[in-house]
This record gives sequence, structure tokens and C-alpha cells, in this order.
Amino acid sequence: MNLEGASALVVGGAGGFGEATVRRLVQAGAAVLVADLSEDKGRALEAELGDGVRFLATDVTSEESVAAAVAAAQELGTLRVAVVVHGGPAAGRRMVNRNGEFYPLETFKRTTDIFLGGTYNVLAQAAAAMTRNEPLESGQRGVVIMTASIAGFESQVGQTDYAAAKGGVISLTLAAARDLAPTGVRVMTIAPGTFFTPAFRMKEEDAQAKWGPGVPNPKRMGHVDEYARLALHIVDNDYLNGEVIRVDGAVRFNV
Ligand SMILES: NC(=O)c1ccc[n+]([C@@H]2O[C@H](COP(=O)([O-])OP(=O)(O)OC[C@H]3O[C@@H](n4cnc5c(N)ncnc54)[C@H](O)[C@@H]3O)[C@@H](O)[C@H]2O)c1
Repeated sequence: MNLEGASALVVGGAGGFGEATVRRLVQAGAAVLVADLSEDKGRALEAELGDGVRFLATDVTSEESVAAAVAAAQELGTLRVAVVVHGGPAAGRRMVNRNGEFYPLETFKRTTDIFLGGTYNVLAQAAAAMTRNEPLESGQRGVVIMTASIAGFESQVGQTDYAAAKGGVISLTLAAARDLAPTGVRVMTIAPGTFFTPAFRMKEEDAQAKWGPGVPNPKRMGHVDEYARLALHIVDNDYLNGEVIRVDGAVRFNV
């Protein structure tokens, strides 16, 4: 898909994967709307990348907030690409602890609301906007790229809420691609393994020393640009639709 004159929406665009994807989209000629909860990081990116990039403070869990982000992206050009790559908190502990206490339903709902509900919120609203685009010569109108995790396939201890949410994103992919097929809007999901991003809240060398050796090949954590390049390939390749692509150096989490 030629991105000259097109716009792209990157939700979570100020995060690790998000920023790398914004940079690649700009290089490919798209105008980009960076939608993120983080005002500081988003404004910094907007200032650095100049004219083709705009930031809008956005909360994926709000219908109104995502509607404003979609509208702002449409002001920059014809919305052809939406990348859903925001983060957020998860329970980060076993469902039932040693005292026999389960973590509250509210915690589970918060995690699924952010990672699954938030993803649906962007998918549905961006896809609806894309259906109103003039089709390209190929008949295509746009593509939505969502972000799961290999935890959506094989989760680790303490990830019940996160795994359920990411498993939901995996299931959503084919269902949405089938629903949207008549409109010429594609839906794809990237399921990353372990990539160094600000989400790790530690120095890269320490994270690499901890997680790198467990990856079969290459023996390191992923680089965010490896996610971004895959996203750009998905944009470019019309025959990719309804599928989840793992990008993980062949790592499989052990229990
Ligand atoms: N880093 C990894 O190893 C890894 C592996 C598998 C999956 N993932 C997934 O990739 C996605 C991005 O992760 P990352 O590592 O780039 O994280 P990150 O912390 O670097 O970036 C996440 C971004 O999302 C923004 N955000 C948080 N809550 C938001 C909300 N409610 N609305 C809008 N924006 C919000 C943050 O401000 C931040 O800029 C997440 O869904 C994560 O689960 C990451």
C-alpha cells in the first residue's frame, strides 16, 4: 500500500513499539497521529518529527477519546493504517495466593478493559472510518494492526488477566477480518516475544542479561524496530489478513 498522502493512527504511539512504528510510518511517507496517554513523551515525539506528526492525548478505554483520535488522524490525510500498541497495568500476581485469596474481579476487568476492550475500541472505530475511504486500485481501503503477545498462547505464572486479554486479541483477529472482508479493510495481529522497551523499567543491559539467553536464536531480546518493520510489511502486503504473526526468536515460555 502506497502511504503517500495517507494518514496513520498509532495508539500507544509514544511507547517502545509505538515510537519505532511511528518513525517507520513517517519514513514511508504517511502523516501520523500519535495517540497516547503520555502527554510528555507524545509531545516530545511531535516536536522532534515535525510537520507530518501530531500528538493527541488519548485513553484507549474511552469511546469519546478514541473517536477524537480517529477524527484527528483523518484530518491529516486518508486514514489507511491503524496500529493498536498501547500498554497498561496488569495484576502481575497469581490468581489465588498462598492464603487462598483470589485477586478481585475488578482487577481482571481493568486489565481486560485496557488490553482487549481498548483494542476493540480502536479496531472498530478506525475500521468504521476506513470503510468510508475511496478504495485504492487494489480494492483495499485500509488495515488495522493489533498487538497481542506470546502470552496469549503460552502465558507465564501471574498472567491470568493479561493472557486472557491477549488471547482475546488473538481470537478477535480472524473474526474481525471476516466481518470486514466486504469493506476491503484488513486486520492483522503481531504477537511479540520479549522486546526491550520502557515497559521494563530497567537498563537495557540488565534486561538483556536476564531475558536474552532464554531466546533460542537470535540469543537476545527483540529490538523495537523489528516489530516496526513487520508492521510496515503488513501494511505493504495485501495478502496478509486475519492472521497472528509471532515475532519472538523461537522463544516459548516454560512454566
Ligand atoms: N515489550 C514486550 O516485550 C512486549 C511483549 C509482548 C507484547 N507486548 C505488548 O506490546 C504493547 C506495547 O508494549 P511496549 O513494550 O511498547 O510498552 P510501553 O510501556 O513502552 O508503551 C506503552 C504505551 O502505551 C501508553 N498507554 C498506556 N495506557 C494507555 C491508555 N489507556 N491509552 C492510551 N495509551 C496508553 C503508554 O503511555 C505508553 O506510551 C502492549 O500491549 C504489550 O502488552 C510487549
